[in-house]
Amino acid sequence: MASSDRFDTLLSEIRTFAPPSDFVAQANFSDPGIYEIAAADPEAYWAQQAGHIDWFSHYKTVLDWQPPHAKWFVDGKLNATYNAVDRHRLTSRKNKAAIMWEGEPGDSRVLTYDMLGREVDRAAHVLTSLGVKRGDRVAIYLPMIPELPIAMLACAKIGAIHTVVFAGFSSVALKDRIEDAEAQLLITADASWRRGSVVPLKNNADLAVEGTSVQRVLVVNRVGAAANSQMREGRDVDWETAMAAAPTSAFPAAVMDAEDVLYILYTSGTTGKPKGIVHTTGGYMVGVNTSMRTVFDLKDDDVYFCTADIGWVTGHTYIVYGPLSAGATLVMYEGAPDFPDRERYWRIIEKYGCTIFYTAPTSIRTFMKWGPQYVEKHDLRTLRWLGTVGEPINPEAWMWYNEHVGKGRCPIVDTWWQTETGCAMIAPLPGITKTKPGSATHPVPGVSARVVDEAGEPVALGQGGYLVLDKPWPSMLRTIWKDDERFAKTYFGKYPGVYLPGDGARLDGDGYIWILGRVDDVINVSGHRIGTMEVESALVDHQSVAEAAVIGRTHDVKGQAITAFVTVKEGVTTGDELVAELKAHVVKLIGAMARPEEIHFTAELPKTRSAKIMRRLLRDIAEGRAIGDTTTLADANVIEALKLQYQDREQ
Ligand code: PRX
Repeated sequence: MASSDRFDTLLSEIRTFAPPSDFVAQANFSDPGIYEIAAADPEAYWAQQAGHIDWFSHYKTVLDWQPPHAKWFVDGKLNATYNAVDRHRLTSRKNKAAIMWEGEPGDSRVLTYDMLGREVDRAAHVLTSLGVKRGDRVAIYLPMIPELPIAMLACAKIGAIHTVVFAGFSSVALKDRIEDAEAQLLITADASWRRGSVVPLKNNADLAVEGTSVQRVLVVNRVGAAANSQMREGRDVDWETAMAAAPTSAFPAAVMDAEDVLYILYTSGTTGKPKGIVHTTGGYMVGVNTSMRTVFDLKDDDVYFCTADIGWVTGHTYIVYGPLSAGATLVMYEGAPDFPDRERYWRIIEKYGCTIFYTAPTSIRTFMKWGPQYVEKHDLRTLRWLGTVGEPINPEAWMWYNEHVGKGRCPIVDTWWQTETGCAMIAPLPGITKTKPGSATHPVPGVSARVVDEAGEPVALGQGGYLVLDKPWPSMLRTIWKDDERFAKTYFGKYPGVYLPGDGARLDGDGYIWILGRVDDVINVSGHRIGTMEVESALVDHQSVAEAAVIGRTHDVKGQAITAFVTVKEGVTTGDELVAELKAHVVKLIGAMARPEEIHFTAELPKTRSAKIMRRLLRDIAEGRAIGDTTTLADANVIEALKLQYQDREQ
């Protein structure tokens, strides 16, 4: 389905912003020479960065690259939790705040590195007492409470592999992930808070673990009586009781090989089955730690606030492993940006004196819609760095962020990356790079990115094509859990030895990269990656549905919104009731983030003669564009009928 027209986006943005001079004066990196040094010998550059990580034994070779398989820091031994927590306890950071947690109903908790270390050690003892061993998989289904990073770090300390499942996923989605990872233990909470109401995590977990490999369930008490959850004798263990009973002695960090798996994190692809992205210990820790010092310009006195949920990769890298490995003080927030009111984030920034703020374009567009009055009520002078991630940022949102949040004093750092890349790949270095609103600018030092055409040839300036990363980097995914063939085919199948992220991009006349969004059947709703096939499978699972096609329609706040076209079985009555039922069905099978914004019933779906649904035409209809080339359609009338029907509905 590739065609050049998909990259035909006019770039009219010409504004540029030099790094603010006060920022440059204090930046970790202000000499552009770092790019040349890294490009001249990337392995030497990464070896130098690896010096910021503590190794139990030194690696022998920086890189062993047998495409598509990379081994970084071969034979090096280390422990991720030792690097994220314990080493700081041996320094003046011992009593420094590591996590400053702000809970949704207003409670808060501060954990110093020493306190965090003690909690992690106890949790490691608890896991061991429950039979978890090195290499075992532990599923974690927790809200944004301190026990979530504690559980992850405890797994890493004993060498167990965690797989965190975002707490907004349904019991069915959780079960799928537990089954694929063959997890032995699940860590969850009785329930969680969301905008003042109770989300029944434990009840979901009970449904999910039924009939799976999970033997024991460790339950954090977050909500109490209102959770309405039950403990199952012999299987469920109360977190607090187990922690109180655990030895207080230090837990020795497992000596892990650089290539031992640190975690699996599931993400959506082009088929209905989510992919278990595998990250290993050495390269990931080097990558994320480097990123904190370069892209995030992190200093010891920073107060760092990333608004992501740890259930997604942004939270893994930029709440847990990155900032902690760099000894940062971070703010972790459990709730929503508009609960109890629209000032929540700004109040948190003011309360804790945050200096670094990292959020998603969809949030910025929401703030814009609300208006600047909420931001302006707060003294945000402590901020010095503002970043975004998750989806392309439109220039208007970029400018608003710069003006109303940063007051023109903070560099705006648009970071492009993916679950698979482990950390930011394309982003400005804030003390060096001239930014342009809407462009993630250039690959970071040590990373090589190109925009190529169908044949894999680099496109000329001003042209669009596929974004590729043509050299390996330390924090790259190593494989897809239990599916190495899919890994090789998905990421290295189009251009041998070259990583294909699945995003389209354009180079402007100055060689800046502009990410255009996914070129595969993956959509990005409010920065959440959702496979169209996953939503289609969920719709078709409903008894009334014969066939479904799902597309992402441009949406001014969410970036993309899910639009579904559905054909029903004979004799089924369509109408608002069925629409509501189908939406609820998708939420039940996947989670609320996959709920279709709109569902249209249609007698037929536009298909090619080989019966492939032409989603491109459905996108044209949903976005009110002229319908593209229909010559390959089996029946051209289908699209005309759909168009008329859609227009009627819109009026
Ligand atoms: O399409 C790109 C978009 O998000 C995808 C990765 O999604 P996920 O693995 O869930 O990770 C999100 C957080 C790293 C990418 O393929 N994306 C991410 N960041 C940007 C972006 N698109 C444009 N600009 C970005 N800064």
